[in-house]
Amino acid sequence: MNDGKQENELENGVRTLVYLDDETEPLLSHRPPVRFELDTTRLEDGEHRLRVEAYDSTGRKGVRIISFTVRNGPGIAVNGVRDNDVLEGKIPILINAYGGSGETLWEPSRAETPAPIPTWAWVLFIAIVAFGAFYGVRLWKPPLNFATTPTYGPLTLNPPQSAGLAATTGHATADAAPPTGVAGDDAALGASTYGNNCVSCHQATGKGLPGVFPPLAGNPAVTDADPTTHIKVVLNGMQGKTIGGANYTTPMPPWADQLSDAQIAAVINHERSSWGNNAPKVTAKDVAKLRAAK
Ligand code: HEC
Repeated sequence: MNDGKQENELENGVRTLVYLDDETEPLLSHRPPVRFELDTTRLEDGEHRLRVEAYDSTGRKGVRIISFTVRNGPGIAVNGVRDNDVLEGKIPILINAYGGSGETLWEPSRAETPAPIPTWAWVLFIAIVAFGAFYGVRLWKPPLNFATTPTYGPLTLNPPQSAGLAATTGHATADAAPPTGVAGDDAALGASTYGNNCVSCHQATGKGLPGVFPPLAGNPAVTDADPTTHIKVVLNGMQGKTIGGANYTTPMPPWADQLSDAQIAAVINHERSSWGNNAPKVTAKDVAKLRAAK
C-alpha cells in the first residue's frame, strides 16, 4: 500500500506546463500527454510563441519553445516598397487587404492586386518570340512547287535560271522548267538538300548511325561509277537491303514526290563528292529519265 502511494507522488512530479509568450501564469499544467485547443482568435495577429516546460519524475526540467504567427485578419499586399528598400522622392505605393479568416464569403476579385508586368517577364517573352521567329525563318521550307522560284530558292539558282531563259528564247520547245540541267551540278543546292532531308538519318559525317542508318561514305551504291542504283534508291526509297553486312529495319523513304530532278541530282552529287567519295556526277536529266522509267 505504501509503495502505491509513493508511486503516485512520483507520478505527480511528472507534468507539463504550457506558457503563451512571456506570460508567467501557465496556460495549462497537466500530466503528459497533453491535448488542448489553442484559440488564436483571442490572440492579436502577429508573432507569438509557446513555451513548453516538462518535468520528469526526478524533477528535471526540459524546455521547448515554438514560435508561430497568427493571421486572422485580412492578408495584406504592398506594392511599391519592400523591406529595407532605399527610397527617394515620391513613391507610388499600392496596398491591398483581403481574405480575413472571419470572412467566409469574401470577393476573390479583391485579392487581385493590380501590379505591372515585371521587366523580367517582358524580357523572357520577347526572347521567346525572337527565338521562335529566328527558328521559323531558319528552318522554314517552302512547298516544292515554289521552292525553286527566285523568291524562295537559294540565290545561286538565279544565274542558271537566266541561262535557262536565254535558252528558251532560242528554242521555242524548251519547257519552262527552270534550272534543271545546270543547277543539278550546283554544290550549294546539293548541300542544302542534304541538310534539309537526309542529314537526320545519314548524319553530317555521311557515316549514318551504326545499325540504324547506313553510311554513305564509301558506300558501294554511292561510289559506283554507274549511278543507276544511287538515283533509283533516292527516287523510290528502299527497304530490307543488307549494306556492308548490316541489315537495316528502318526503310529509306522515297523522295520522288518531294524533290525535283535538280534537287535529287544535286544531293546525289553532294554524296558522290563528300566524305572522301569521288564518283562521277549525274545530271537532272539522268534523274528525269529514271523517274520516267519507273
Ligand atoms: C528516315 C531516315 C532516312 C532519311 C531521312 C534518308 N535516308 Fe537514306 N537510307 C535510310 C536507310 C534506313 C537506308 C537503308 C535501307 C536498307 O538497307 O534497306 C538508306 C539508304 C540510302 C542509300 C542507299 C545505300 C545503299 O547501300 O544502297 C542512299 C544512297 C541514301 N539512303 C541516300 C539518301 C538521301 C540522298 C537522302 C535525302 C534525300 C536520304 N537517304 C534520306 C534512311 C534514311
